[in-house]
Amino acid sequence: MLSYDSKRKCDWLKDMKQYTDQHIIKSWKKNVQPWVAAVREGEIEDRLLFTNQAIINAISSKTPKTVLDIGCGEGWLVRELVNAGIHSFGIDAIPGFIEYAQSAGGGNFKAISYEEISSHTFKEKFDVAVCNFSLLGHECVNHVFKQVATLLTRNGFYIIQTIHPVMACGESTYEDGWRAGSWRGFSNQFSDPAPWYFRTLESWKLLFIQNNFKLHEILEPLHPATHKPASIIFIGQLDS
Ligand SMILES: C[S@@+](CC[C@H](N)C(=O)[O-])C[C@H]1O[C@@H](n2cnc3c(N)ncnc32)[C@H](O)[C@@H]1O
Repeated sequence: MLSYDSKRKCDWLKDMKQYTDQHIIKSWKKNVQPWVAAVREGEIEDRLLFTNQAIINAISSKTPKTVLDIGCGEGWLVRELVNAGIHSFGIDAIPGFIEYAQSAGGGNFKAISYEEISSHTFKEKFDVAVCNFSLLGHECVNHVFKQVATLLTRNGFYIIQTIHPVMACGESTYEDGWRAGSWRGFSNQFSDPAPWYFRTLESWKLLFIQNNFKLHEILEPLHPATHKPASIIFIGQLDS
């Protein structure tokens, strides 16, 4: 019989093999409508309470003229930035999200996956590239990190908001790896939750440093009721 530790290790190895970045795309394709409803009808409490404002503040603090929103979903952040007078461009792998974003107006949007990003993808360079809860995969995230420096203006910023690794770790061991997804807390319109790739704080830091960014700031916005950090914001600056 397997010991508890060996069984955990086996389950972990099974998950590592079973999940890929393509599962994430498949899942988002299925969940376009419920996600648009959740964002536009204010169903995600943390976003209303603090994470939306936290990412807007982080971007605004760098006074950019141009912003690229990578994994923009239905486009709420681009619309906010355009309203604040910042020229903004949103990209996402899922054409359904881009159609919703384009029909709401405000900003430029294009269906481009992380895997397709390269120095030739855009005619312009951006002062800030942002990923708001959109870096969920493994190899595709490494690819974005490798390419993003080529999309930024001199000393440009790369700003990422993601789930706080310490808070998100749960019962699992604190090490990088795929985790099963869940739509807990969302409406029953959602199906087939996407797996996601957990990274420790150290691994996030390394991604910045190994890809020619200085880690300029790490912010831990607190949930106003629990005073726990539900998200973390990394602000990297191109080391040119
Ligand atoms: C949790 S949603 C966040 C959307 C948006 N940033 C927001 O704040 O509402 C994650 C987004 O990442 C996008 N995404 C995931 N993997 C992607 C990939 N490989 N290429 C492009 N977009 C991807 C999904 O389509 C989805 O829109």
